[in-house]
Amino acid sequence: MSEIFSGSFTQQEPISEDAIEAALAVLRSGRLHRYNVAEGEAGETALLEQEFAAQMGAKYCLAVASGGYALATSLRAAGVKPGDKVLTNAFTLAPVPGSIASVGAEPVFVEVAENLTIDLDDLAAKADRAKVLMLSHMRGHLCDMDRLMEICNAAGITVIEDCAHTMGASWNGVLSGRHGAVGCYSCQTYKHVNSGEGGLLITDDAEIAARAIMLSGSYMLYGRHMAAPPPEVFEQVKYETPNISGRMDNLRAAILRPQLRDLDTQVERWNVRYREVENGLRGTPGLTVVARPAKEVYVGSSIQFLLLDWSEDAVQEAVRRCAARGVELKWFGTPEPVAFTSRYDSWRYAETPRLPQSDRVLAGIIDMRVPLTFSVEDCAQIARIIRAEVSAVYQSA
Ligand SMILES: Cc1ncc(COP(=O)(O)O)c(C=O)c1O
Repeated sequence: MSEIFSGSFTQQEPISEDAIEAALAVLRSGRLHRYNVAEGEAGETALLEQEFAAQMGAKYCLAVASGGYALATSLRAAGVKPGDKVLTNAFTLAPVPGSIASVGAEPVFVEVAENLTIDLDDLAAKADRAKVLMLSHMRGHLCDMDRLMEICNAAGITVIEDCAHTMGASWNGVLSGRHGAVGCYSCQTYKHVNSGEGGLLITDDAEIAARAIMLSGSYMLYGRHMAAPPPEVFEQVKYETPNISGRMDNLRAAILRPQLRDLDTQVERWNVRYREVENGLRGTPGLTVVARPAKEVYVGSSIQFLLLDWSEDAVQEAVRRCAARGVELKWFGTPEPVAFTSRYDSWRYAETPRLPQSDRVLAGIIDMRVPLTFSVEDCAQIARIIRAEVSAVYQSA
């Protein structure tokens, strides 16, 4: 009898008791809106911003309604206007080009390399096409950020980092989100902290921070922010910046603060699980494990491998056989977008030429979530199942 995995790939851990207590205190107060604070009270949202800024070593932080909202707000705050072009990854998820489209700008897609990061040669070749790069650290893979910043600085490109999958990760000792002008994070359930929905934005740029705060719907209450630039920075900005409400509330902030304190521990727990799957997959015929560079500290909340140059039918057969044994794999090569596996050619609002290198890599990318509700033994079993089914399909092809 072949073994079958029975765990859920979408089940998160419960919210911790201290976070539940903090949420109950907010509920009991009735003061859920971030600016609804009692005399002398900072409010959970302002405290969250202050703590996250300190944790990331950033001057300013703004908490918002979602990661996607943080991306669009960063673009607006960085001065992107309708009709502008914005460089971004061909391998990413829908909210990234969506944030570019939401400000009326046009994505210019950059090829994905075989290690699943943005292709830096293609970026260098396209560097004269836009003044902003929305860099998605898709599925937690960090490119050589030193080289990326060299390319962008030389071309005068402002870098906005989409760190939805890299909260807690770093490159060459620098935290993800701290290389570019702005770092954006998602606090949505499937990310590294869970408030259902939510986002965070950090920057050292006072004007970007002031504009983002005004955009998020601070009215003239920006003085209540504790990770904001001084009032004089708002003097001009407050008249020029529209209110596009997308604030975080105190309830979500309350449950995020304890989770952020635990981030490093959670990262270690993810990585133990990731490495168990990775080690179990190494040496599987026909399967390429994605190499992780020594300069990268990653967060293994999901794992990707490649079935490079396989036929569509063979990939589909491997995915089907794993599913039959309880292992849910997502294939980025699927011709029609399914669930979260969107590809650059599914975003037809953005006209783009074919990207042959990305087509080849995307056709081989298999993606799997690694929730913390899996035990290390679960991860070993999952790897055994994938190994057996991928080998069987490969050998019969
Ligand atoms: C790569 C990436 N960027 C940004 C986002 C946007 O985050 P949110 O769902 O909080 O808007 C997501 C969410 O799935 C994502 O996967």
